[in-house]
Amino acid sequence: MDQLMQKLSFEMCPNSSLHLFAIFAFATCGGYSGQLRVSVDCMEKASSNLSIGIDFAYPFRLHQVSFEAPVCEGIRRERVFLIGDYSSSAEFFVTIAVFAFLYSLMATIVYIFFQNKYRENNRGPLIDFIVTVVFSFLWLVSSSAWAKALSDVKVATDPDEVQLLISACKVQTNKCDSLHGPRWSGLNTSVVFGFLNFVLWAGNIWFVFKETGWHKGASRLAGGASEKQSGTFTQQSYNQGSFDQSGSYNTQGNLGQLSEYSQVGGPTSYSNQM
Ligand SMILES: *[C@@H]1O[C@H](CO)[C@@H](O)[C@H](O)[C@H]1NC(C)=O
Repeated sequence: MDQLMQKLSFEMCPNSSLHLFAIFAFATCGGYSGQLRVSVDCMEKASSNLSIGIDFAYPFRLHQVSFEAPVCEGIRRERVFLIGDYSSSAEFFVTIAVFAFLYSLMATIVYIFFQNKYRENNRGPLIDFIVTVVFSFLWLVSSSAWAKALSDVKVATDPDEVQLLISACKVQTNKCDSLHGPRWSGLNTSVVFGFLNFVLWAGNIWFVFKETGWHKGASRLAGGASEKQSGTFTQQSYNQGSFDQSGSYNTQGNLGQLSEYSQVGGPTSYSNQM
């Protein structure tokens, strides 16, 4: 019984471990929130703010993230916005991860509980193969896009860069400082998991391909390469020829039959001429 379960979950099921890694990818990215902190120390100390916290989160629409900074003229303050919108890459990445998770979960269930349906007409393996290829590609694209977006987010939320947006910091007499930047470990992990998922899904292509049975067909064809070219066709036409007609008509039957395969469109007229 154990052995059966082991066989089911590890050897026979091509998708079994994939959803776990997809979860890590979208949880680490989609659940992220970060904070940076800067200080603006005005010449007239009363208008200073020595601890300005700026919060941002997934999906990284930084142009909508704002904070109040002193202008260093009395108590006047200005609203400052961060720069950039990285939501498309972030949301694309999370969407792919969620759908990959759902698909691998569904495929595992179908594979384990509906083996017969899965193998019916070879349709299950065929769909599985195509979807796995598509998801591998999407993992690569979305992980690359997200990795690029993340490196841009890191620049846009660097406290040293954010200081440049504050007008008071452009005045020499005021002193601006970076207190701390956001933590990146979670988002770095999400990128690693994205590429790890690409590798896993791409590797899984082979196992799903084996399920389609195409490699068996290919090796069988390669084995009988000498007869392969017209073997099946002539055999068919021989059989038909000898059943339908007899004697000298055999060769004609062959020709007509062959032309039917090579010339699409005019097989009837050709055999009629003969
Ligand atoms: C400094 O800025 C923060 C926002 O980051 C605000 O909550 C706080 O009230 C400000 N402090 C002063 C003294 O203006």
